[in-house]
Amino acid sequence: MAWPYASGPRHIGHVAGFGVPSDIFARYHRLKGNDVLMVSGTDEHGTPVMVAADREGVSPRELADRFNQLIREDLRKLGLSYDLFTRTTTRNHYRVVQDVFRTLYDKGYLIERTTMGAFSPTTGKTLPDRYIEGTCPICGYPHARGDQCDNCGNQLDPVDLIDPHSTIDGSTPEFRETTHLFLDLPVFGDQLRTWIEAQTHWRPNVRNFALGLVRDLKPRAMTRDIDWGVPVPVEGYPEDTKRIYVWFDAVIGYLSAAVEWAHNRGTEDAWRDWWQNPESRHYYFMGKDNIVFHAVIWPAMLLGYGEGGEIGADRGPLQLPYDIASSEYLTMEGKKFSASRGAPILVRDFLERYDPDPLRYYLAAAGPETQDTDFTWAEFVRRNNDELLANWGNLVNRTLVNAYRNFGEVPEPGELTDADRTLLAAVEEGFRLVGDQIEQARFKAAIGEAMRLSSVANQYVAEQAPWALVKEDRERAATVLYVALRAVDSLKTLFTPFLPFSSQTVHELLGYEGFIAGPLEFREESEEDGSTHVVLTGDYDAWIGDWAPSDLRPGLKLLEPRPLFKKLDPSIADVELRRMGLDEDAA
Ligand code: MF3
Ligand code: ZN
Repeated sequence: MAWPYASGPRHIGHVAGFGVPSDIFARYHRLKGNDVLMVSGTDEHGTPVMVAADREGVSPRELADRFNQLIREDLRKLGLSYDLFTRTTTRNHYRVVQDVFRTLYDKGYLIERTTMGAFSPTTGKTLPDRYIEGTCPICGYPHARGDQCDNCGNQLDPVDLIDPHSTIDGSTPEFRETTHLFLDLPVFGDQLRTWIEAQTHWRPNVRNFALGLVRDLKPRAMTRDIDWGVPVPVEGYPEDTKRIYVWFDAVIGYLSAAVEWAHNRGTEDAWRDWWQNPESRHYYFMGKDNIVFHAVIWPAMLLGYGEGGEIGADRGPLQLPYDIASSEYLTMEGKKFSASRGAPILVRDFLERYDPDPLRYYLAAAGPETQDTDFTWAEFVRRNNDELLANWGNLVNRTLVNAYRNFGEVPEPGELTDADRTLLAAVEEGFRLVGDQIEQARFKAAIGEAMRLSSVANQYVAEQAPWALVKEDRERAATVLYVALRAVDSLKTLFTPFLPFSSQTVHELLGYEGFIAGPLEFREESEEDGSTHVVLTGDYDAWIGDWAPSDLRPGLKLLEPRPLFKKLDPSIADVELRRMGLDEDAA
């Protein structure tokens, strides 16, 4: 999954695109018994971090350290079960990036060109492409960025923008000659086109967008006139003035993180089972503004690298992406927030006040999966109260409370009726239906199906009314509660990828031990030069659980039930709007 910039705290729109979807996918596949390696880390180089550091008057490294810590804490609280969440400032990452860069250079895929670079007239420093705005020369969109037009999707050169100006201080950039190494994208044009055309399993919008990009490839600069980034391992590119472009280094993070993961667990070559194994499938999760880097540039780099390099070592070509699962944008209360503008809802603040599962639920059920979507607090409250709590929470609660009070354990069932069997069959079928949707990265449909099955189970419980039966026919009540508990046990598994915290609670209330969704951990890792960094990981091999219907055992001792979800007062919507500065007084 995409690497969040360590340039500031991340907001809920970020985790809607890169975070929650990839975690749902990873948790599902682990339950299925598939091998999973989910990696990411903070993206710490380049101008986003430099500009934020300048603004605060600290060094880029200090800023990156601070936000690496903050972001990893947020992601842990949100339950994103990385095998490794690391950073791009490790020795290991530098080594892998320089190996790829050097190999592409030696093979002639990085070519030197002199261009016009933009410099700020106020500071004399380079003005990064993305901080230049102007009118798109292709479609006329007035807010095109120096590197890309978000309206027509074309890659741009800042020098071609009409009326260019700095988004930092409004000044008009000066253009001066400068020399850079360019990735020769056009030489990969045919290979990329053939490859993308064959990816018929991609979402049509992603595939068409990528095909459009490939039709018009230009060499793209992979070095920058800055002093924060991976040093360029080529003569004539001194590290005090030139560094590797942040996107070149960031996408290599997927590879370097796998290398680090293998090293940390003492199995140096284990990363090759993922990267040099044609059986492995690489799924990338990101927001839509990242598509060009994942569908075109990174694949071109991988094709160019071939079998290596020092790292590849002629042990087979590196795997190309299997799927690019990109999401659209999440606006909040009708506004589009970016990390640099406005007061969006920060993951940190959100999780200080609310539990992670209701946020995960909202993002899965009502997130920007296929179209831009607006988050509103009123809708968050409604989804929490009327769906999560009223449907799934209520089913768990009333089933467990009745079973616990009347039997104290999973009761022994008698003969099953048609109604009993129909419910169990419906829930059983859920493993196929929900699983199919998750495999296609259709998380909204997947959780919708799981919720539908929860309603079916609720209906069953309402019709059978075990609370009344207990007084008239205790044996039949035992059967009904057994069937309902078994449905809850299965649903717990169906919900685990989405709602890991509450599924773990249900697991425990049902009397089971062990983790179906356990704690994530920070570990400190050290490198050869003695430097250390903290990574987010977990002991997923020790987790239990199978993507299969429950075979609940009668006699299991139940724990005293407690509610899964908190009811939210509708008034929180006003409180939160005021916090965002969006209430009427502020307007
Ligand atoms: N930091 C980038 C962003 O937030 C994403 C980098 S993804 C990677 O848009 F693949 F390049 F790492
Ligand atoms: Zn345009």
